[in-house]
Order: sequence, then structure tokens, then C-alpha cells
Amino acid sequence: MEQIFSYGKPVTGKDLIDRESIVEDIVRDVKGGQSVILAAPRRFGKSSVILESLTRLKKEKIMTGFVDLFEKTSIREFAEGIVETVLENKETKIKKIFKIMKSNFQAFLQMAEFKHVWKEHEFILNFSRKDADENALLEEALNFAEKFASAKKTHLVLAIDEFGELKNWNGKLLKKLRAKFQMQKMVTYIFSGSQESLMRELFTDKAQAFYGFGKIVELDPLPEDDLIKYLINVFQKGGFLLSKENAHRICKLSQCHPHYVKVLAQCIANQHNDNGEKEISGDDIKNGSELALIQVKGELDRDWESLSKAMLQKRVLKFIALGGTNLYSKEAFSGIDKARIYLSVSELQKKGFLRKIKKGEFDFINPFFRSYILMFSKGIFV
Ligand SMILES: Nc1ncnc2c1ncn2[C@@H]1O[C@H](COP(=O)(O)OP(=O)(O)OP(=O)(O)O)[C@@H](O)[C@H]1O
Ligand SMILES: [Mg+2]
Repeated sequence: MEQIFSYGKPVTGKDLIDRESIVEDIVRDVKGGQSVILAAPRRFGKSSVILESLTRLKKEKIMTGFVDLFEKTSIREFAEGIVETVLENKETKIKKIFKIMKSNFQAFLQMAEFKHVWKEHEFILNFSRKDADENALLEEALNFAEKFASAKKTHLVLAIDEFGELKNWNGKLLKKLRAKFQMQKMVTYIFSGSQESLMRELFTDKAQAFYGFGKIVELDPLPEDDLIKYLINVFQKGGFLLSKENAHRICKLSQCHPHYVKVLAQCIANQHNDNGEKEISGDDIKNGSELALIQVKGELDRDWESLSKAMLQKRVLKFIALGGTNLYSKEAFSGIDKARIYLSVSELQKKGFLRKIKKGEFDFINPFFRSYILMFSKGIFV
């Protein structure tokens, strides 16, 4: 079956469903020098929203940069990422130099043609030294971003995707970074993070380095009305007919999750019983849901395994999957201190398993997690 729903990569432009007002707000805020913190669970569309915002800023001739900390494995790589992305804004010549220099410093030194350039950007030479202090490199990279923007006399909007990673790498660095960022006049930031509660803590807890640094923006699941239109439209383009009622069922099953709704919809298309009927049936939806669960099982297994040393957290998840609502009632976990349950729930929120619905009530972020737990509770996955 042909892939009619594309997923797995960030989307921009006409492929981005909803998010218009969020993108507009981000663009307006960063243009006004207000940094923005985008907090949302995994695969909710953070990178998509950032990339769309940066595209629009570029159209307005504002300089932009994008560094994804998820891909980086050291502070040095983070620093290099900043220099490279800043250089994407016009300076193709230095960008070339930076690349050559990182791979072959000797060759670079012999290139007389570049001498005048590295005189101007002397700090770049430090990046070739294997023993250079990486915190110092990061500082130089940030200084460079500010200088570069000042020299061009335009603002630079630097997006740092998965910013929360930094806290895990080196908590102390955060304080220094905050001080640095605050000194910058020409650079405004967009930070994103998948661990919503960690991001909220980092930016709203008075004791944390980034308290009050920027405006927090959160992403919700996609609005059902827009999703229904989208599903009907894409199914139609793929040669299928989807009723409004069944589109609603798909939204409900996927909890309007921007990524998993596409995974589910594609599985339904794959499972469509092709006996000349174009219409997507209830059976197609049922079979598609089962196929989708099998498809995402690998990632759910990894999530579940990551809790191997946290029995109580697993028990909390199972309790919710089985329909339990009041986690703190006497019957829920007899003999276990409420404080421990509270801690487990808070850990599960930090790790991105659960989302708070209202006081004392939580739901899974991944719409397949409930069925996954129920399936293996019944011994179906062995
Ligand atoms: N607004 C949207 N419209 C259409 N598809 C979307 C939207 N938001 C997210 N998606 C889909 O969801 C998936 C995740 O998108 P994206 O990579 O932007 O999210 P993310 O929050 O940055 O994810 P991650 O946590 O993995 O970094 C992609 O497959 C993308 O196609
Ligand atoms: Mg992302």
C-alpha cells in the first residue's frame, strides 16, 4: 500500500495542520526581542513549529539559526553547531573554512587565501584544538553569534531544540549560560523541550537558572475539527472515502496526537479490505488499530523497559490503563505511602509518559500505551 500519510519528519508550510496562531505569536514575540520556550510532549510538533517560525522570520530578512541538542553528544558539538548555524546566514566563505578547519587543520593553515578571514574571526582557530576547553568554546560561539548579528545590524533568532538535554549534561553550565544570554542584545532564543515538567521547572521555578527568561508556549493535541478535515481530504486523495463519523473515531483513538494520528490513519489505509469498496469501514479501523499497535510496539517496549527499576511507576501506569482514576485513594495501592505514589506520578510526567488532565487525574501521552499495557496484561504480547 502506498504511503498516503507522511510522518517521521517535521512538517512546515501547507503540511502543518493548525498551529497558525502559535507560529504567529512566536514570530511576533521573538521579533520583539522576547525569547520563547516551547514545551510539549514527544512528537507533538515542536520542531515543526520552530522550523515554520524560522522560515517566516527568514522571509522577513531576519537572521536565524537552529541547533538540535538531541543530536549532539558534547558541549563542543553544541558550540560548533551554533557557529555553523550562524554562518548559514550568508557567510558561505567562512562556513567553508570552518568545515575544512575542523577536518584538516594543517590544510587549512596553508590556504593563504583564507588568512585575512581567520584574522577577523580568530576565535575559530580554537575549534581546531582538540584539547580546547569546551565550555570556553561555547562561550566563544555565543559571543560570535552576538557579534555576527551586531555586525550585520539585524536580529538573530537562535532556536535550540531539545534544550532540556543541557540540564542532564551539565546543570552548572545553565547558570553561566543564562548570564551570557542576558548580556546579548542582538540574539533572541526559542528553546524547545519534550519534558514539559522539566521545562516548566527550568523556566518558572525561582530557584532555577532560567527563571523568567522567556514566555512559555505549550502545544496541545491538534484540534479535532481541523484533523477531521485533514483525514477526509488525505484519504480522498489516496482514493478512499472516509465518513465524518469514522474520522471522528480515528481522532478519538489517536487522542488527536499529531504523529500517532497519521500512523493510525496509514495503518487503516493499509488494512482496507479492497473488495471494490472505497469506503473505510469500521472493520478497517479496528484492523488498522491492531496493526498500528504492532507497528509502535517496539518503541513502547523500550519505554516500558526503561522503567525496569521503577516498579511503582509501572504499577501506576497499569492502574491508569485499567481505568483507575483516583491514584491516591486507599484502595488503589494499599500499604504504599501516598508520598511515594506522588513521586512516581511526578517522575512519569517528567519522563513524558503521563499528562495531567485535572487534579489527581492523568492520562497517557502516547495514545497506544493504554492498549499496549492491556494487551500484555492479557498475555497477548509474549
Ligand atoms: N501540526 C502538525 N501537522 C501535521 N503533522 C504534524 C504536526 N505536528 C507534528 N506533526 C507530525 O508529528 C511528527 C512529529 O513532528 P515534530 O518532529 O515536529 O515533533 P517534535 O515534537 O519535535 O518531535 P520530537 O519529540 O520527536 O522531537 C511528524 O511525523 C510530523 O509529521
Ligand atoms: Mg523535535
